[in-house]
Amino acid sequence: MPYVITSKCIDVSDQSCVEECPVDCIYVGDRKLYINPKECIDCGACEPVCPVEAISQDRRVPDEDKEFVEDNRRFFTEVLPGRDAPIGAPGGARKVGEIGVDTPLVADHPGS
Ligand code: F3S
Ligand code: F3S
Repeated sequence: MPYVITSKCIDVSDQSCVEECPVDCIYVGDRKLYINPKECIDCGACEPVCPVEAISQDRRVPDEDKEFVEDNRRFFTEVLPGRDAPIGAPGGARKVGEIGVDTPLVADHPGS
């Protein structure tokens, strides 16, 4: 079960989590970051370092943020605005750099 980043990350994007991840599977959008569910190895190292407690295991995401479980997946499987193909599983966030866009859910989200 992968970890996911919820609404609390929106407009905070602290990025401490990125430093902790041993497989570099946390990708930078615009207002928020996203964990690649195909690349996360469930080590849990990212969870305690987030200052706003935005990260949790998918089955522990609070009810009000449940849509973010699917939305983290969507960031990688659907074509994001301004791109011609899904991000997929490129095997490392640093090598692709900041994506600079969000899923529609996050782009239109009022924030936490
Ligand atoms: Fe966001 Fe927390 Fe990481 S605010 S960027 S999930 S450390
Ligand atoms: Fe990385 Fe967190 Fe998964 S540190 S491997 S995104 S549980």
